[in-house]
Amino acid sequence: GLARKPGMSRDDLLTKNAEIVGGVVDQIIRTSPDTIVVTVTNPLDVMTYLAWKRSGLPPERVVGMAGVLDSIRYAHFVAEALGVSIRDVRTMVLGSHGDSMVPVPEYSTVNGIPITQLLPKQQIEAITTRTQNSGAEIVAYLKTGSAYYAPSASVLAMVESILLDEKRILPCCAYLRGEYGLKDLFFGVPVELSRQGVHRVVALDLPQPVLEALTRSARHVRETIEQ
Ligand code: 2OP
Repeated sequence: GLARKPGMSRDDLLTKNAEIVGGVVDQIIRTSPDTIVVTVTNPLDVMTYLAWKRSGLPPERVVGMAGVLDSIRYAHFVAEALGVSIRDVRTMVLGSHGDSMVPVPEYSTVNGIPITQLLPKQQIEAITTRTQNSGAEIVAYLKTGSAYYAPSASVLAMVESILLDEKRILPCCAYLRGEYGLKDLFFGVPVELSRQGVHRVVALDLPQPVLEALTRSARHVRETIEQ
């Protein structure tokens, strides 16, 4: 798909990228009908839905890359704020790959220690906002396109978990059947990635404010799907 230029939102890419992704998916299915499709095109949650509809594949075989990238950016900012190695930082960013993405501090730790015990609330909020805007931050630096290095590394992590049947639990854009109160939607949630694709969606008991933020984020995805 096309990438963003400065000043564009991920949703501005909708029409053009729907054409591109639709055409690519047709060709994929013609040559590899039993494939697993990993989408990396914006607006991510909507393109993943489109790829599923257009491909006719079971929903388990279509999965979008966003949460891994957003989570590693979040982890980077946490590591920077604490002055510690990023190796021990684990974070979770759920929801849509857009401004309404939902970083979850309660599920973000440094070697098991919740970041809520290590950083003041205000600093966590600042990190949350920077994470939500970090795609645009990179676009502003690159000017002629959007991030590619970290997205490539993120999609590689997912593809390895599928090919090597690692069953890693990663935040990915996956099809929901009522989990988190949402259905018939591709949305960023923790999933287990195996040789079969999305082996299962991990349904979590989320704090109420997080759940509400996710519901708002899902509403935005649905509106864009309608468009
Ligand atoms: C990003 O977050 C391009 O959406 C992509 O960098």
